Amino acid sequence: MDSIISLVLFISIGFFLPGKVTSSVNTSCNSDDLQALERFRREVEKPIDQGWGSNSSDCCKWEGVRCEPVSSRVIALELVHKNLKGKLSDSLFGLDQLRVLNLSRNFFTGALPPQLFYLQYLEVLDLSFNSFSGFFPSLIGIPSLRLTQLYLTSNMLSGSLSIQIGSLSNLIRLDISSNNFSGPLPNAFQNLRKLEQFSASSNNFSGNLPASLSNSPTLSVLNLQKNSLSGPIDINCSAMVNLAVINLGSNQFRGAIPESISTCRKLSIINFSQNNISNQIPDSFKNLKYLSQLSLSKNNISNLSAALSILQHCRNLTSLVLTRNFQNEVMPNDPSLHFKSLSILVIANCRLSGSIPEWLRSCTRLQLIDLSWNSLSGVMPLWFDELKFIFYLDLSCNLLSGNIPTSLTMLQSLISSNVSSEEASIDFPFYIQSMQYNQIRSFRPTLNLSYNLLSGPIWPELGELKMLHVLDLSHNQLSGHILDSLSNMINLETLDLSRNNLCGEIPYSLVKLNFLSKFSVAYNQLTGMIPRVGQFLTFPDSSFEGNRGLCDSLSPPDNWNAKSNEKPDEGGESFIGAPFGFGTITGFVITATVCYIFADLLPPSRTRIRRGGKVTYTKHWRQFAR
Ligand SMILES: *[C@@H]1O[C@H](CO)[C@@H](O)[C@H](O)[C@H]1NC(C)=O
Ligand SMILES: *[C@@H]1O[C@H](CO)[C@@H](O)[C@H](O)[C@H]1NC(C)=O
Ligand SMILES: *[C@@H]1O[C@H](CO)[C@@H](O)[C@H](O)[C@H]1NC(C)=O
Ligand SMILES: *[C@@H]1O[C@H](CO)[C@@H](O)[C@H](O)[C@H]1NC(C)=O
Ligand SMILES: *[C@@H]1O[C@H](CO)[C@@H](O)[C@H](O)[C@H]1NC(C)=O
Ligand SMILES: *[C@@H]1O[C@H](CO)[C@@H](O)[C@H](O)[C@H]1NC(C)=O
Ligand SMILES: *[C@@H]1O[C@H](CO)[C@@H](O)[C@H](O)[C@H]1NC(C)=O
Ligand SMILES: *[C@@H]1O[C@H](CO)[C@@H](O)[C@H](O)[C@H]1NC(C)=O
Ligand SMILES: *[C@@H]1O[C@H](CO)[C@@H](O)[C@H](O)[C@H]1NC(C)=O
Ligand SMILES: *[C@@H]1O[C@H](CO)[C@@H](O)[C@H](O)[C@H]1NC(C)=O
Ligand SMILES: *[C@@H]1O[C@H](CO)[C@@H](O)[C@H](O)[C@H]1NC(C)=O
Ligand SMILES: *[C@@H]1O[C@H](CO)[C@@H](O)[C@H](O)[C@H]1NC(C)=O
Repeated sequence: MDSIISLVLFISIGFFLPGKVTSSVNTSCNSDDLQALERFRREVEKPIDQGWGSNSSDCCKWEGVRCEPVSSRVIALELVHKNLKGKLSDSLFGLDQLRVLNLSRNFFTGALPPQLFYLQYLEVLDLSFNSFSGFFPSLIGIPSLRLTQLYLTSNMLSGSLSIQIGSLSNLIRLDISSNNFSGPLPNAFQNLRKLEQFSASSNNFSGNLPASLSNSPTLSVLNLQKNSLSGPIDINCSAMVNLAVINLGSNQFRGAIPESISTCRKLSIINFSQNNISNQIPDSFKNLKYLSQLSLSKNNISNLSAALSILQHCRNLTSLVLTRNFQNEVMPNDPSLHFKSLSILVIANCRLSGSIPEWLRSCTRLQLIDLSWNSLSGVMPLWFDELKFIFYLDLSCNLLSGNIPTSLTMLQSLISSNVSSEEASIDFPFYIQSMQYNQIRSFRPTLNLSYNLLSGPIWPELGELKMLHVLDLSHNQLSGHILDSLSNMINLETLDLSRNNLCGEIPYSLVKLNFLSKFSVAYNQLTGMIPRVGQFLTFPDSSFEGNRGLCDSLSPPDNWNAKSNEKPDEGGESFIGAPFGFGTITGFVITATVCYIFADLLPPSRTRIRRGGKVTYTKHWRQFAR
């Protein structure tokens, strides 16, 4: 026991006084490296535990340290996500053979020490996801010419990006996104002759694209989204022969998309959304054979008809997002339009008139359709079940009338889980409704037909859609009963049937829907008791209000002598006091309940006002989300 204690003592003394005792333990790492690392260890505020010096002065064995086997020199230091705090002092500069420094996802603060860029063998520098602040260091003389990857993502660096960045002439990947850089992008890219990926998204860069950037022959990924860049999108595709991904979303670019863009033959992902781009989509888009994802939402592009007939020639197009353009145009209905590979189609909030187009029928790979917030009218087509991969259909806020087609109860990928899982998912960040998803599969299976003029019954067969998570049929003119079979939709999280003309009782079996977290049947003509069991205990009164004959045993009026206000029987298959199905007992129970009769007392809270067939939208969050 004593010997262990003295050994531990001995080793810890050895650690703090390396010069005196290193000879007595196995030291295979270089002593300069060891000293540098020990200084670093003392300087960081949260000491690095796991194996750091505690046992061994062979720093090559410390966690996150890698040595070159022959020379035993430290060549890599990778301490990622270790809760390290403090400033980077000059201690690390002693590691003069370092090739990889990865301190990503810690809490380092202070300025970026310029010396890091003079570690002459450094190839990879990753300081992303820390709290470094101040300006990009000035690089005079010859910084590490070997640096190929520089990641400064998600820090608090500010000021302009120095033109000296061009002296890091071997950079292949440069990511300075999510900082507070401002001013123009430096015209330094002619010196970055190997740069393949450049991301400066989520900063406050302004001004035009520098010519050296828009003529870079090596660049394949350019991500400048969420800045204040302006001017025309004048990329020179004769020069940018390797460009495959361009994301200029959320800037202030204006003018037309250049006709010459098709010369960038390798383009496969284009995001120009949230700019001020106008005119039509250039005819030359036809030639973008690799184009798979195109997002142009929130611009001022016109002529949807031309856009679709051009884009159908991009045979690899899987995702097309055109929201908020083409204001007040007519939905093209040319039956010969055909999108062979299209999996995602979003043309929302364009105030398009016309009807649900027939050509959708031939786009058999579709998984997600969002045509919400238009003025599409007529009846819903009968062929939706032919689109066997559809799992997300949003046609809300239109003027669709007639019955819900029964074909919607036969959507294969909402019936069984194994249909669309065979589809390759699209794994590019994709944006709808203020949330960012990484995969199309992150969208919850949804059927949203709310805010239309649909009438007729809610088909009992909808219950077949076992994979459905969101069913919103609110704000229509649906009638008839809510049927028991809806409780077969075992994955349902949201069920909104509010503002229709439904009558009868809320089926007790709905309490089986364990995932249900949002439920509303408000403003119908329902009667009977609210099944206050399971999830139904959590729904607010507003879920039920506006029904003349709907009674709740949970919330009697304040002045009620609540003698029979018992706790609900959570385990049992019964209403409070009365088993479901025994209608005759209901009369007795009603005396202990409050009924939702205030439909006519409250002002209507509709967010949409119809005037003579025209639809006007008042303030509504969805308007901003799209
Ligand atoms: C010292 O380290 C070397 C290389 O890792 C190893 O071969 C040797 O056995 C070690 N010696 C002792 C005494 O631990
Ligand atoms: C010290 O070394 C022993 C034996 O090699 C090992 O079991 C222990 O986990 C090490 N302690 C630390 C803190 O690394
Ligand atoms: C830094 O380490 C993290 C975690 O291992 C890794 O994900 C990241 O790619 C590394 N950075 C570089 C530039 O290799
Ligand atoms: C960002 O930089 C501007 C000056 O360019 C400064 O006024 C602002 O405080 C900075 N914001 C943060 C969060 O550092
Ligand atoms: C971005 O920069 C512009 C000037 O180019 C400035 O007016 C604006 O306030 C800045 N925005 C932020 C968020 O720093
Ligand atoms: C576009 O790139 C080509 C090929 O590099 C070059 O010859 C031409 O001058 C460039 N055009 C402009 C306007 O920069
Ligand atoms: C396109 O850009 C917009 C605006 O910056 C962004 O919100 C969206 O996520 C981007 N879409 C893709 C697919 O990257
Ligand atoms: C968009 O461009 C038009 C001119 O093409 C201009 O009138 C308008 O102010 C711009 N809008 C924004 C938000 O910059
Ligand atoms: C189209 O996509 C398929 C499958 O992703 C791919 O194999 C093919 O090379 C692509 N064709 C073009 C011209 O991009
Ligand atoms: C949209 O573009 C048209 C010309 O195509 C222009 O008249 C109009 O002002 C633009 N609207 C906005 C909001 O920029
Ligand atoms: C839309 O584009 C087509 C083809 O370029 C053209 O014939 C048609 O006139 C355009 N429509 C409008 C309204 O500009
Ligand atoms: C899953 O797919 C297989 C073949 O594709 C089919 O035989 C099976 O019936 C499907 N399962 C369900 C639950 O639909």
